[in-house]
Amino acid sequence: MSSLPKINPTKTKAWQALQAHYEDTKSLHLTQLFAEDVHRTKEFSISWNDFFVDISKNRITSKTRELLLQLAEEVQLEKAIKAQFSGEKINETEDRAVLHTALRDFSTMKPEIAQCLQKMKEFSEQVNNGDYKGVTGKRIDTIVNIGIGGSHLGPEMVYEALKHYRKGVELYFISNIDGDALQATLDILDPETTLFVVVSKSFTTKETLANAQFVKKWFSSKLSAEAVATHFIAVSTNATQVAAFGISEEKTFPMWDWVGGRFSLWSAAGLSVCCAIGYQNFEKLLKGAHQMDQHFETAPFSENIPVMLGLISIWYANFYTSETEAVIPYCEALHKLVPYLQQAVMESNGKGVDRTGTAITYQTGGIVWGATGTNAQHAFFQLLHQGTKIIPTDFICFTNPLSSNLELHDMLLANCLAQTEALATGKPFNAKEPYNTFTGNKPSTTLFIQELTPENLGSLIALYEHKIYVQGVVWNIFSYDQWGVQLGKEVASAILENSKLLNGEHATQFITNLKYRS
Ligand code: F6P
Repeated sequence: MSSLPKINPTKTKAWQALQAHYEDTKSLHLTQLFAEDVHRTKEFSISWNDFFVDISKNRITSKTRELLLQLAEEVQLEKAIKAQFSGEKINETEDRAVLHTALRDFSTMKPEIAQCLQKMKEFSEQVNNGDYKGVTGKRIDTIVNIGIGGSHLGPEMVYEALKHYRKGVELYFISNIDGDALQATLDILDPETTLFVVVSKSFTTKETLANAQFVKKWFSSKLSAEAVATHFIAVSTNATQVAAFGISEEKTFPMWDWVGGRFSLWSAAGLSVCCAIGYQNFEKLLKGAHQMDQHFETAPFSENIPVMLGLISIWYANFYTSETEAVIPYCEALHKLVPYLQQAVMESNGKGVDRTGTAITYQTGGIVWGATGTNAQHAFFQLLHQGTKIIPTDFICFTNPLSSNLELHDMLLANCLAQTEALATGKPFNAKEPYNTFTGNKPSTTLFIQELTPENLGSLIALYEHKIYVQGVVWNIFSYDQWGVQLGKEVASAILENSKLLNGEHATQFITNLKYRS
């Protein structure tokens, strides 16, 4: 067992005090808070590296912050952070350490990680300089990442976010077990110039294996079975199953059990991205994440971005009983951030039993949703502005554009600022137009980041990773296991065995054959 504290947060003094404080302050309006303190933005913001995090538009006062920090102290957050970074087996239900942070710490890097990075560097350089050729002698220009969950969402999100920095191959992602989608991807590929990277930490995930087998068959029929040895690469912990699939040790990149699937983009799971953006940029991504790790480990909690964002999130979830949080990047390149966060947040903190094995009676696991602004403004912002729910929202924007298109970028930023302002202030009641009333007092946090660089993206992702842990520590849950996804997998296997669907039986027949419907 690790030294991870096992404290029921609702039994702390801070929790009781926060409950009373909530009753006292719940009707305070943000406009009032700003009117009373002209320095509110300064007092409630954190500057760090290229980040300026404005938390002033949250329904908090200095007292709220003080009590939240007291809560962090009473649940022993500091000890929990130390336990994670020191490599204790804080994922107790799987008896594993949680050390994805070690993948990006170049100062104390374990030899096995350094070796893996070296192998990624050489491989990506060979692919991009044309030394790594397909069996017919052609240069590789495309990589298909076959993987699901953490073996897909992180790499795809980073690829989309950093397309501006692309130096090499084009990437495609095959994740879902959807034959039509798979075929649509295969139809545009040239097998002679394509590599397939099968990413699966366990190499037992049914969707990934079924897709990889299908692709292998298709590929063999187009070129030859022998060509698989050159065109298929694996990233996994499971050397035996990789070998059984037909991929050699030389073409296999390692993963480790102390790196959770949804936190694995920093490992060789990011190989396809590394090839696309080039090793140097991949390393910058890791280094940016490491800087945030250091900030998380060392900054005082009141100035610690992941700690403060995690605590504010607790404030809404457990006292305002908000069930969801929205994330709105004003940056189209971050259009895959929300799906990535959905796995990271909900697979981590969607838990109903605490660290002592007791059923939880308070709310955990926020629901994360969102889309890019300004698109989202024309989709669901109506509900944010005038709906009955309190939905704390993170706005993310970059001060500088990557292109020289300042005019459009200014419009984008103006929209971002306008939304946070309108959500906070609202519009007074007007008897003639009651439908045109905006209560305001809708909370938001704005992350201003200087530019979308690999370093800053690394820091941003690491920020959200640590926020998840902060929440998990307070909620007294194990954030790094995911038992909840197992049952569905078992039932799906049972259904498939009975239906022979994998042998090509028609879908209609499959449905009528389902035992529970007969
Ligand atoms: O969905 C459950 C899960 O275990 C995720 O945590 C993981 O990212 C995904 O499946 C894929 O797992 P693997 O990399 O082992 O194929």
